[in-house]
Amino acid sequence: MSLLPLGFETDVPADAIRAPIIVLEKVGKRFLTKAGEYEAFADFDLTIREGEFVCLLGPSGCGKTSLLRILAGLDSHNSGVLRIREPKGDKPFMSVVFQENSIFPWLSVRDNVAYGLRSRQAASAWVDQRVDQLLETVGLTNFQRLYPHQLSGGMKQRVSIARAFANDPQLLLMDEPFSALDEQNRSLLQEELLRIWSLSGKTVLFITHSIDEALFLGDRVVVMGGRPGHVMADISVPFPRPRKQYALKASPVYGAMVAEVAELIRLAMQVSPA
Ligand SMILES: Nc1ncnc2c1ncn2[C@@H]1O[C@H](COP(=O)(O)OP(=O)(O)OP(=O)(O)O)[C@@H](O)[C@H]1O
Ligand SMILES: [Mg+2]
Repeated sequence: MSLLPLGFETDVPADAIRAPIIVLEKVGKRFLTKAGEYEAFADFDLTIREGEFVCLLGPSGCGKTSLLRILAGLDSHNSGVLRIREPKGDKPFMSVVFQENSIFPWLSVRDNVAYGLRSRQAASAWVDQRVDQLLETVGLTNFQRLYPHQLSGGMKQRVSIARAFANDPQLLLMDEPFSALDEQNRSLLQEELLRIWSLSGKTVLFITHSIDEALFLGDRVVVMGGRPGHVMADISVPFPRPRKQYALKASPVYGAMVAEVAELIRLAMQVSPA
């Protein structure tokens, strides 16, 4: 008997086993604080393969952002082995959407989105066309001349999402990118991210606090526990793509998975800081 819910349009692609793009083996991170050393995570094992969409969930403070910063090359680990396979080429390999807003305050919305493309000296007509398209995707066409201080939190987040998409990277690291958005925009951008991902074969590591979002987007849901941060569970998401929110929510398998992940997070919270 199939465990998969009925009513989906396609099957999981057969070429599921692909080359690893990120490998972490027993990776650990300690911070030096005034109160002494703080072990953010330890013995962290994770492999992410080319083209995979991996969602990372876990209680506040368990080390998700610290891990992403290490993967992005903004911080270093203290122990273990981290391997990232970066192909040669002139396009940026990785783009990061940070949890905290990270757009340039001195550039307009349009110039923020165009920044990466212009710094690669792409043809200006092509840049204009691509930026127009991205601004429309994130619903900021009418706000493109404004500056970050004139935007709401959700609008700023949409600028950084458009900027990350503009670079068309092979690896997208996203730290709660949709958390400041209203439900409608969140849903639109989830669909758009899935569309871009399915067309381009990008690899995505996506941090979220939403179990629904993780199960809608991910091929795998990695649940992290804290003190120190570690992988509690690495769960394959069995739902074929394209997925529809309403069809997922009607499925008993989905309900069982939500309950399972919620229970893991509840257990993780009992030992996590914050
Ligand atoms: N630069 C730093 N110096 C000292 N401690 C730090 C530093 N950065 C993070 N930490 C600590 O490491 C732990 C993990 O922080 P991190 O931001 O990675 O958590 P998180 O899982 O992303 O949480 P959230 O879900 O709230 O975003 C926290 O206890 C935090 O206080
Ligand atoms: Mg964080």
